[in-house]
Amino acid sequence: MRSLRTGLSLAALVTGAALLFAAPVAHAADTPLRDLADAQGKVVGTAVTGSKLTGTYGDIAGAQFNSLTPGNAMKWGTVEPAQGSFNWSEADQIVAFAQAHHQQVRGHTLVWHSQNPSWLTNGSWTTAQLGSLLRNHISTEVGRYKGEIAAWDVVNEPFDEDGTYRSTLWYDGLGAGYIADALTWAHAADPDAKLYINDYNVEGVNAKSTALYNLVKDLRSRGVPIDGVGLQAHLILGQVPSSLQQNIQRFADLGVDVAITELDVRMALPSDATKLAQQAADYRSVVNACVAVARCAGVTVWGFTDSDSWVPSTFPGYGAATPYDENYAPKPAYSAIAAALGGTTTPPPTGACTAAYSVPSQWNTGFTGQVRISCSGASLSSWKAKWTFGAGQRITQAWNATCTQSGSAVSCANASYNDAVPDGGSVTFGFNGSWSGSNPVPAVTLG
Ligand code: XIL
Repeated sequence: MRSLRTGLSLAALVTGAALLFAAPVAHAADTPLRDLADAQGKVVGTAVTGSKLTGTYGDIAGAQFNSLTPGNAMKWGTVEPAQGSFNWSEADQIVAFAQAHHQQVRGHTLVWHSQNPSWLTNGSWTTAQLGSLLRNHISTEVGRYKGEIAAWDVVNEPFDEDGTYRSTLWYDGLGAGYIADALTWAHAADPDAKLYINDYNVEGVNAKSTALYNLVKDLRSRGVPIDGVGLQAHLILGQVPSSLQQNIQRFADLGVDVAITELDVRMALPSDATKLAQQAADYRSVVNACVAVARCAGVTVWGFTDSDSWVPSTFPGYGAATPYDENYAPKPAYSAIAAALGGTTTPPPTGACTAAYSVPSQWNTGFTGQVRISCSGASLSSWKAKWTFGAGQRITQAWNATCTQSGSAVSCANASYNDAVPDGGSVTFGFNGSWSGSNPVPAVTLG
């Protein structure tokens, strides 16, 4: 670099620009979440949409997460839209992507009241027929991905809020025994997969989670293969249950794993800095609670970007629920997850104003200099740019600023008409100067 600062390297200097201070774009260099999670022995996962796994979406999904959950691709309605006619394409694609990126897959979900094919829900079945349909579905799907799925959400959302069984195709047709049967059939199809029951509003200690607790306890006592409990954690801003860690611990004490399977934290739109800070605190509390309990396997977010979240269409007026915004910029929640996983707490990008010095033209003993002040995520209502000339240069005339020079120290203040630099905007001023020998580019500071 030294040799650049000579008169012989003017061409380089003329096009060069000196940054005043760089905006904090440190996230690119931060340790990926998956590395932090690996170091903790935890999963950090995301739900994904297969068709989106290219470009920036694919880059982030592959780089930041050590586990993927198909958001819809493994649901019955997706994989068997017409009876006996299967479509595994998106599920296969996600599994292949995960394998290529050394990620686990969380299979989701085998037995649910929702997103079933209409041939199934509209059919009229005897108890025996319904049981064999379910058994065949589980054997087929779990068998197809045998050895490739770390954990299956075998049964999804079996309870009502008061802790009674939800009235569903399965409960109504087969009775509560469908849960133990489904687990048993899944275990037979892939003995190595961890088998979970998954539900929402079971994050804190309440009637619903206590019903789930009692079910798991009963299944364990009967030797039914149940390995874990999934707490979906579709949360509302500022409403992380205070008993979350205690609840995780009580399931762990039954001898099962616990996973946060579908974390998102929705807020009333539009988002603002205060809400995003609260959201970060909420994400942090959830990940902290999981890190604090050895049997908590990890945390999966239900979509990592606001552009791929179920929230806006499901909860009108709400959104911004994930750790990345719609343009894939990490939000404060991202840093909060990293911090809770033991990473450094890089402050989220807050924006900055920067000044770039350049020499558009130069001749004999004279030159024209230019300073461009740009703001992104920040703004200025007035400005002063300062620098020190390193080789005896002197300003002879300035425009769009008032410049004074004392020895080698230059200070240029805004004119009355260009004092404001708005967020996303810039202001440029120029000057003529004299030089001899060399004309090195100075470092500019804004004050
Ligand atoms: C959601 C998907 O994200 C949406 O794309 C789909 O339209 C509806 O289902 N609990 C679950 C998930 O277990 O399967 C749901 O996923 C969200 C709630």
